[in-house]
Amino acid sequence: MKFALEAAGVTKKFNNKTALADISFEIPRGSAFGIIGRNGAGKTTLIKLILGFLRPSGGALSVIGGAPGEFYSKIGYLPEYSDYHLSFTGREYLKYLAGVSGMNGAAAAAKVSELLEMTGMSDGADRRMAHYSKGMLQKIGIAQALMTSPEFVILDEPFSGLDPFAQKELCDIMAALKTQNKTLLICSHILAHLEKICDGFAIIHRGRIIRHGETSSMLVTRGRYRLSFENAGAAVVEELKEKHGLSIADDGGYILEEKKKGDKEAVLKRLIDSGASINALGESKETLDDYFNSVVSPREAE
Ligand SMILES: Nc1ncnc2c1ncn2[C@@H]1O[C@H](COP(=O)(O)OP(=O)(O)OP(=O)(O)O)[C@@H](O)[C@H]1O
Ligand SMILES: [Mg+2]
Repeated sequence: MKFALEAAGVTKKFNNKTALADISFEIPRGSAFGIIGRNGAGKTTLIKLILGFLRPSGGALSVIGGAPGEFYSKIGYLPEYSDYHLSFTGREYLKYLAGVSGMNGAAAAAKVSELLEMTGMSDGADRRMAHYSKGMLQKIGIAQALMTSPEFVILDEPFSGLDPFAQKELCDIMAALKTQNKTLLICSHILAHLEKICDGFAIIHRGRIIRHGETSSMLVTRGRYRLSFENAGAAVVEELKEKHGLSIADDGGYILEEKKKGDKEAVLKRLIDSGASINALGESKETLDDYFNSVVSPREAE
């Protein structure tokens, strides 16, 4: 089996509303795949179809070589919203799940300790979950997703509620899962993390995949520069935007994406000839955030 997931022409309608249309993509086994899109784009709906919680209105899904829902023990899942048994301690809750998953006695205790350690929850493990912070609950959610040592791990908004340190720890956990050859499917709005972790992406917009592919081929790595200059006239800047691929970055600086070889030199010459002073020029790799913003317009009505 080459792919952990194959989606072919998947559609999902709720009454008359089309939430997903013609979704087709694959996730190679052992790779990490990110699904990104604005709120309401259809990401969680797609996950529920993959898990077999919802049935597609059309198209087909193959999940670890079977139908959705056929191999639950091979799939780990962190839901977007979790409702835990708050009167349990974290350890009790995980032990209970270990039991449900077929582990007993020392094996269950060892698995629970391993997961608590991995998620940095060993210290809080014996406190009632009712007293947990949002981040602690999220960590227990990640621990439960890994209970059956699944080969396919599906995480819906895993960074939600985690502070920057805990987010970094979770990135490290994901990197460790990749080294164990597990397949990851991650929905998140934290694009900087996804860019580091994921080998491929799909961007869902209004229920359709508008871009998908490998991270390395989606993000521009050559012919893209960060440029800083001052004292350039507005007309010159407009001319450079039109002719030579100059644009303004989110932080107000300039990005130069060469449309053709020599654009960089042409821009620098034009700026210098017009009396502007150049402060800096450096190569700039396109980020997933840049890419997402370039294909999904923030002004477009939802
Ligand atoms: N059970 C349902 N019945 C009717 N409509 C639904 C149902 N579930 C989802 N939808 C609709 O489908 C669309 C996609 O929702 P979904 O939760 O998949 O978005 P999402 O991309 O996960 O968004 P977010 O980033 O906010 O989590 C939304 O318009 C939502 O209202
Ligand atoms: Mg969602």
